[in-house]
Amino acid sequence: MKVLVIGGGAREHALCRSLSLDPDVTALHCAPGNAGIAEVAELHPVDALDGAAVAALAQELSADLVVVGPEAPLVAGVADAVREVGIPCFGPTGEAARLEGSKAFAKDVMAGAGVPTARSYVCTTDAEIDEALDAFGAPYVVKDDGLAAGKGVVVTDDIDKARAHARACDRVVIEEFLDGPEVSLFAITDGVTVLPLTPAQDFKRALDNDEGPNTGGMGAYSPLPWADPKLVDEVMATVLQPTVDELRRRGTPFAGLLYAGLAITSRGVRVIEFNARFGDPETQVVLARLQTPLAGVLLNAANGTLDTEPPLRWRDDAAVTVVVASHNYPDTPRTGDVIEGLDEVAAQDAPDAYVLHAGTKRDADAVVSAGGRVLSVTATGKDLAEARERAYRAVARIRLDGSQHRSDIAAKAAGA
Ligand code: AMP
Ligand code: GLY
Repeated sequence: MKVLVIGGGAREHALCRSLSLDPDVTALHCAPGNAGIAEVAELHPVDALDGAAVAALAQELSADLVVVGPEAPLVAGVADAVREVGIPCFGPTGEAARLEGSKAFAKDVMAGAGVPTARSYVCTTDAEIDEALDAFGAPYVVKDDGLAAGKGVVVTDDIDKARAHARACDRVVIEEFLDGPEVSLFAITDGVTVLPLTPAQDFKRALDNDEGPNTGGMGAYSPLPWADPKLVDEVMATVLQPTVDELRRRGTPFAGLLYAGLAITSRGVRVIEFNARFGDPETQVVLARLQTPLAGVLLNAANGTLDTEPPLRWRDDAAVTVVVASHNYPDTPRTGDVIEGLDEVAAQDAPDAYVLHAGTKRDADAVVSAGGRVLSVTATGKDLAEARERAYRAVARIRLDGSQHRSDIAAKAAGA
């Protein structure tokens, strides 16, 4: 099977790594990719947001399957463009991707499907904003309606900050604060059949102890030793299957990866957000634990034949990933710094620990930073403590001027 992956972050590196280990994959391509993905896939300098160009590339490569990684191309309809030229594509239509692209649309779908989520108001005027903030009280949860790369959400006790963020958005969702640990649960679906993956936890704040601003995600681990073993079944029954059924009922069937961001509150599981693609950095740990070869599952989802797929198989190993970010992230990051130590990780830590590239590119003989999140250092082990130790040992070998990472990823869950 010839596979083309669209995107160029750590999630796409994780996808490409898994696909490169799948014996059914005979050729692997990625556009635009990054310096790390170049080691496992052939790169093509095609704009991920340009549906016509992506479809043309897929045809030129005679791809059997295209996998669209990030949300922006999905919302822009890139998967539709690929399907229009007759090539199977893993990723929802632009219309179904509004589940991620519009928080107000997601709320409407959840209301229709009876899916438990935070109570909310959609506001466009200052008066509506003040009324909603007043109705819920602190802590205030204020979400830009549109795509904001994980940075459109402000959670604060400060009414002035909450109001300022809300007024800066064209359309804003203001909602009830959900208290409790967060879980990310992904499901692969063809629009009818839903196949859950294994839960992971992400660390969204920039600094240790969940302090600092929200980011795209600073690290993740799986499995979750503290979670109820019935969690996946419960979320399948109350969230994932009803949402997939509701989208089909509305005439916008969702086929691809449905990401449920959940809060485990004292009153039960609530959806914080949906995404229409694999989460980053959770994918790095989920795929590290997946034993079933990936390509066939994604192809079945793309072809509407997921009902033929047996349950997924998982390793007993635990996995931890630690994100190494640029100086100043999540504000405008500094880029162009040389990354050193990658060879040392490959020589001394593989295969238990390895570096997935997020924002990197090759500059002559060097690999340099090219984005906010630069690397996602991933490790497996017999338990979380061992995986964590291996991940941080590899992080310590990496030298990137001004870089930052959290030191407490998976610490609590590992009992460290
Ligand atoms: P989102 O982009 O919707 O996932 O929001 C980013 C982060 O903001 C989430 O991972 C939570 O940590 C936090 N957040 C979002 N909505 C809520 C809520 N209703 N209550 C508490 N925290 C929230
Ligand atoms: N890890 C959060 C996200 O992918 O949106």
